[in-house]
Amino acid sequence: MKLLYNLNNKLITTRKYFMHYLSIEGKQKLKGYVSISGAKNSALPLLAASLLSKNKINISNVPDVADVKTLLKLLENLGATSKYDKNHVVIDTREVKSACANYDIVRKMRASILTLGPLLARFGHCEVSMPGGCAIGQRPIDLHLKALEKMGAKIELKDGYVLATAEGGLKGATIIFDKVTVTGSENIIMAASLAHGVTKLLNVAKEPEVVQLCEVLENAGVKIDGIGSANLTIVGSYGKLIDMQDFRVIPDRIEAGTYLCAGAITNSKMTITDVIPTHMESITLKLMQMGFGIETTQDTITILPADKILPVDIETSEYPGFPTDMQAQFMALCTQADGTSIIDERLFENRFMHVSELCRMGTNIKLKGHSATVEGNTDLNSADVMATDLRASSALILAAFVATGTTKVHRIYHLDRGYEDLEGKFSKLGANIQRLSE
Ligand code: EPZ
Repeated sequence: MKLLYNLNNKLITTRKYFMHYLSIEGKQKLKGYVSISGAKNSALPLLAASLLSKNKINISNVPDVADVKTLLKLLENLGATSKYDKNHVVIDTREVKSACANYDIVRKMRASILTLGPLLARFGHCEVSMPGGCAIGQRPIDLHLKALEKMGAKIELKDGYVLATAEGGLKGATIIFDKVTVTGSENIIMAASLAHGVTKLLNVAKEPEVVQLCEVLENAGVKIDGIGSANLTIVGSYGKLIDMQDFRVIPDRIEAGTYLCAGAITNSKMTITDVIPTHMESITLKLMQMGFGIETTQDTITILPADKILPVDIETSEYPGFPTDMQAQFMALCTQADGTSIIDERLFENRFMHVSELCRMGTNIKLKGHSATVEGNTDLNSADVMATDLRASSALILAAFVATGTTKVHRIYHLDRGYEDLEGKFSKLGANIQRLSE
């Protein structure tokens, strides 16, 4: 039996930890308010960026999700000290000596690759395990490596590791990303912050999480022009760690979108709070096209029931386009629309793992290449279904809310990676949802 320690170093059996499922009553209506947590996809690069800092940092609004804890474990493995308490992190990387991110941690979370840029920039050498395969696609890191090579790094792939060296430090360069990559952009923005001279980055990702990383680095004294645009100019400070200031992680627009879809699929009136509505315009626009009412204030969004849920066509793309991380949730919603919807997944070649599980609940979805045809007006039945990846699993929960009977969603460790206290938040909204052990 594999021994497993939880984050308080308490020994628990593998079986006990992994074998929970969610039991969800169907035919639910939701109501009330739900507060949205900090963004996982902002907290991860920002924690990696702490490797560039010459001082201890306090970070607030850090989501209590497994991926954050995995990255903290990786940073501690490198020699950092950290403390996590109620969405607040104190991280100190001044004592970091090692520049090796080992397979045992990286295999749990691909985003560990975000330590590559900062470690190489700080130490001039590092070893980072290659992130293995992923349920949603091949997800290569060639664009990360090519960009570092443009900055003078020597990259060798050996025994499943990226061995990178930059004698005399990384050099500023002009880099055009062949494809928009979120973590690729973040890795090179961090590397450029400690490089010699000026780096020009073209075709950079514009996601709000990338913007927050730039703003935190700018606040720490890094000169960055073009924040929020596809082209950045970064002036590095080779040999001088940066003076990172305390900050608050932005709200999680994908968690927020998931709750709005829960309100939509149950045709309920409910409000999400602690959000930035402008980060979610492509999501709320689609909901309005489907006939739902959307009311926003500075930091809340209220969804109002639709007289009739209308079908919609969706094509995933980079920000500010429709996020691929919301594709599965909208697919579940489209099964309740009055007509046929077409969903094109343009970013990941294998991001329809949820379809076969949704079909077990009685949906009628046909796949052809990167396109899914979703029939609406479907009465869903409860079933035992399996979570396959983070966002796919949230779609199964939404479907369970409108199914007849009690649905069991298994392998929910996928959910825990990116949703904080999901069953607690849905219970507050009136759902009958419980976490039970297998
Ligand atoms: C980030 O992944 C997010 N993860 C993903 O969220 C999100 O789905 C994705 O961006 C797209 O929005 C984090 O921020 C931690 P990409 P990332 O590099 O950076 C190809 C979630 O559910 N590509 O922007 O890994 C790649 O295969 C997760 O929270 C290359 O070809 O995605 C894909 O087709 C899932 N070579 C496309 O680019 C590279 O070197 C976009 O991927 C890098 C990427």
